[in-house]
Amino acid sequence: SWHRTQCCPRHSPGTGASQFGGSGGCQQGRQCCVDPLSAMEQEAEIVQELGSLHGIPLYKSFIEGWPRVKAFQARPDDVLISTYPKSGTTWLSEIMDMIYHDGDVEKCRRDAIYNRVPFLELKAPGEMSGIEQLESTPSPRLVKTHLPVQLLPTSFWEKDCKIIYMARNPKDVAISYYYFHRMAKIHQDPGTKAEFLENFMAGKVPYGSWYDHVRGWWEKKQEKKILYLFYEDMKKDPRQEVQKILQFLGKELAEGIVDRILHHTSFQEMKKNPAANYETMLPILMDHSISPFLRKGVSGDWKNHFTVAQNERFDQHYQELMAGSDLHFQMEV
Ligand code: A3P
Repeated sequence: SWHRTQCCPRHSPGTGASQFGGSGGCQQGRQCCVDPLSAMEQEAEIVQELGSLHGIPLYKSFIEGWPRVKAFQARPDDVLISTYPKSGTTWLSEIMDMIYHDGDVEKCRRDAIYNRVPFLELKAPGEMSGIEQLESTPSPRLVKTHLPVQLLPTSFWEKDCKIIYMARNPKDVAISYYYFHRMAKIHQDPGTKAEFLENFMAGKVPYGSWYDHVRGWWEKKQEKKILYLFYEDMKKDPRQEVQKILQFLGKELAEGIVDRILHHTSFQEMKKNPAANYETMLPILMDHSISPFLRKGVSGDWKNHFTVAQNERFDQHYQELMAGSDLHFQMEV
């Protein structure tokens, strides 16, 4: 869920200013430079092998950028949005930006979501890194990360930043991640669904084990200021979850504004909103014709994909890895 729109995947966007919706320069889906590289050569630069960051599988370009991420200086009023990939990061980000702008829909169309909420550890060749983007973002900042809890830059703890974590059941995450691997070109070919499922269970995917991730952040909640939310709760009763967020932030909003936030951040509205649906990225980075970024937006879609045998195997593995934890997931709503 990364990559800013830029005129050419090999060239830096140039300024920290938004590349989104501006006049002149890049147009959505159109190459602005006459690029001497063939499409195949360009794709070769976009796909990233996985390396290992302190034992966590991660894109090599992200690992190259790690020293600056580790040293990142958080500000006390930064709010961190933390998730395992495909757990509703974009949804929560849009909700948070709407809350920060008192439900002003127009202000939340000012830029693409991946620019409004910079991605801390993003690093790709020829692009502005997440760190660079954050440095030019005025406070109060919203920051997105997928880092496992043990890798979060220490400054977030030192500055006592507020953190919102959103978790989603692993079956839906696995399916969503599979389709994301196919459409987001940073990834190598995920193979068949069955193969991807094996890799997901073994933690051989970017950001590693889902089990470790959700458990790590859950346990940290005992000692730190973390609001731990679930995608499934947000589906069931978004109003209640938005109220939890408001309370956590110490913010009050009129009923009508909350209504507007709920409407604007519904799946249907976000799917048609170019500032939220990632369609502003070049097709060479994300191919929505393979699978749209806002794909289905439901809980329980895994039932349309898992075989009975896969489900039994998954359940057994889940029991083993979640044993002894008081963290529980709803596999559907
Ligand atoms: P599906 O692939 O199951 O549809 P992330 O933002 O962390 O990458 O997560 C992407 C997942 O969240 C996708 O799941 C996407 O459709 C879903 N999503 C995004 N916005 C949503 C919304 N407003 N309501 C429900 N689901 C949403």
